[in-house]
Amino acid sequence: MNKLPYGLIGRGRVASHMAHYLQLEKQSCVQWHRGETSTPEDALTEADIILLAISDDAMEGFLERHPFHQEKITVHFSGSRTIDGVTGLHPLMTFGPELYDLETYRSIPFVEEEGGIGFHEVFPALQNPSQAIRTELKPLYHALCVLGGNFSTLLWSKVFGDFEGRLGLSRELLLPYLKQVSLNTAASGREALTGSLARGDRETVRRDLQALAGDPYETVFRAFTQVFDHREATP
Ligand SMILES: NC(=O)c1ccc[n+]([C@@H]2O[C@H](COP(=O)([O-])OP(=O)(O)OC[C@H]3O[C@@H](n4cnc5c(N)ncnc54)[C@H](OP(=O)(O)O)[C@@H]3O)[C@@H](O)[C@H]2O)c1
Repeated sequence: MNKLPYGLIGRGRVASHMAHYLQLEKQSCVQWHRGETSTPEDALTEADIILLAISDDAMEGFLERHPFHQEKITVHFSGSRTIDGVTGLHPLMTFGPELYDLETYRSIPFVEEEGGIGFHEVFPALQNPSQAIRTELKPLYHALCVLGGNFSTLLWSKVFGDFEGRLGLSRELLLPYLKQVSLNTAASGREALTGSLARGDRETVRRDLQALAGDPYETVFRAFTQVFDHREATP
């Protein structure tokens, strides 16, 4: 058990998962969110490490309004933002509505800011893997995480929804496909690509686009074909 509690700010996805992870690891933590009647200054007075788990756009304003954090080590979890005097530790993970088990939390890598306070200095009792990147690379790092994670969630939720809603097929039918796409992509990257684009079946691609005519994902499909053509043309 850590001597002083972590002071965790927020009640969203990351705050809820971090609170649960710290509890599973028997780390003392006091949580505060803006729905409380107390002030963060009063609620978190005992904490010497503040974990700021609020929206990216709200962080700087919050820190300005609550300068008490300057006497403490303060951490934020944004993969994109850099804030002077505040340590960025980005959990390279998606945090869903359900809490995870301890093994899953322990496997989450944290990406640190080069030259900043490291993950294991902030969380000496936790064993998560960590690596640092230069702060100027954080926007690109984050954009890549969004491409890989958030955008594939959007794509898959579109496919799940239309399988059930438009094709009358069950979502379970898709699960082996989703699993193998993930496994093959993790194992072989670009070599994992199959299908009409990879085969060069242009007429099938044209029919796919026609089937999506008027659907917002028609633009997405077309953009992917353009990215594919560009990549094929680039050695
Ligand atoms: N979600 C992920 O998978 C993920 C992954 C890695 C890193 N992150 C990072 O983790 C941080 C938190 O993200 P999240 O996904 O947990 O967000 P979230 O679920 O949308 O929750 C945002 C939290 O911010 C609070 N908040 C917003 N404006 C505030 C203000 N002015 N003052 C006080 N609290 C305020 C909200 O309070 P109310 O509940 O009162 O509205 C809410 O508790 C962000 O920096 C994000 O980039 C998220």
